[in-house]
Amino acid sequence: MSEAFEPPAVAEAGTRQLILTADPDFLDFALDEARAADPQVEFLQGLAPGVMLAAGRRTFADLAAGWQEKPPIFVRHICPVQASVGLDGSGGDLMVLSQVAGGELALLLASDAPFSVQTRVYGDLPHKPFDINQAVAPLLAEISGAPLDVRRPQQVVSVVCVGQGQGGVAYLGVSATAHNLSDWAGGMRRFAREAEQVSRSEFKLLEAIEVFGLELPPRGVALDLGAAPGGWTRILRRYAQYVTAVDPGDLDPRVAGDRGVRHKRMTAEAYLANEPDRFDIIVDDMRMDAQASARLMVAYAPQLYAHGWALMTVKLAEKQRRATLDQAFAILQRAYTIAGARHLFHNRSEITVYLRPKARGY
Ligand SMILES: C[S@@+](CC[C@H](N)C(=O)[O-])C[C@H]1O[C@@H](n2cnc3c(N)ncnc32)[C@H](O)[C@@H]1O
Repeated sequence: MSEAFEPPAVAEAGTRQLILTADPDFLDFALDEARAADPQVEFLQGLAPGVMLAAGRRTFADLAAGWQEKPPIFVRHICPVQASVGLDGSGGDLMVLSQVAGGELALLLASDAPFSVQTRVYGDLPHKPFDINQAVAPLLAEISGAPLDVRRPQQVVSVVCVGQGQGGVAYLGVSATAHNLSDWAGGMRRFAREAEQVSRSEFKLLEAIEVFGLELPPRGVALDLGAAPGGWTRILRRYAQYVTAVDPGDLDPRVAGDRGVRHKRMTAEAYLANEPDRFDIIVDDMRMDAQASARLMVAYAPQLYAHGWALMTVKLAEKQRRATLDQAFAILQRAYTIAGARHLFHNRSEITVYLRPKARGY
């Protein structure tokens, strides 16, 4: 029997170890959030840009429950590390991984809840995540008795593999899907491109609707500030909203030609001075300084019905990002409750903020 068939040496890492993922440009913010949640957390090793192996004083379950209640802005995804095993980049790795999965990992799965396997591979390994999923999922299902359901899993087996440059290791762990901060491997929420897509920004709105659980009223009226070329407007139309699209720029002809879209070819400031209507939804993706954009959102608050909600991207320039964010939040809180704030997978140098209007007393 070759060595690859020997039972692998599994290092029990316990549930205080976790892998935390963030946008590489905002990893420092994410690590601050982890420190705020667990002042004694240790950052053990950067596994890839924006991917950190950490050891907490709090258990993974405790930390995750706290973040489930009040999600961080920049930590995109977390998963526990309960086992780790060496990889050498050969075909034998798949065998080793399936042995770990079929051994102790399977014992951690609840037999009565659907599970899926989420694999990420970083560095110089030849393996594809799909191949690893295929190698470990059937054994996990067979031994644990849990059904495999990649669409609606309640528990996830996370497999994070790093190449020789980072030690050649696979880190594995089992967690409730709801504890991972995102249902997607590493928080990488990808949407299929549609032929009608107008802008890349569309993904930001789709992701925000999903992450914040936003409800769009049937035949609602929506205001899209900074609408051009019309991606968000197109998505709002798909959700059966009548849209007022405000932007001095041109809308894509497919959006401009839609009878459910009214293009106000002017700035948001000019439209506000122009006796605007009231709306169920206000969205703001304007390319504008964060504080100026927040002030405009506050000025627009009376145009939002009490049952409505607003969404804005807060643009963060290179410098003083924390101060910019704090100031924008302070301004927004004059008129809104900040119901959610996340650096979404599709955000670049910005975060997305979900706002509910404060009671105005009239
Ligand atoms: C990132 S683009 C918006 C993309 C859009 N959400 C989409 O999905 O196609 C930013 C837009 O903000 C607009 N903008 C900048 N300042 C503005 C202002 N004061 N009033 C209205 N629009 C403004 C720009 O003209 C630009 O079209």
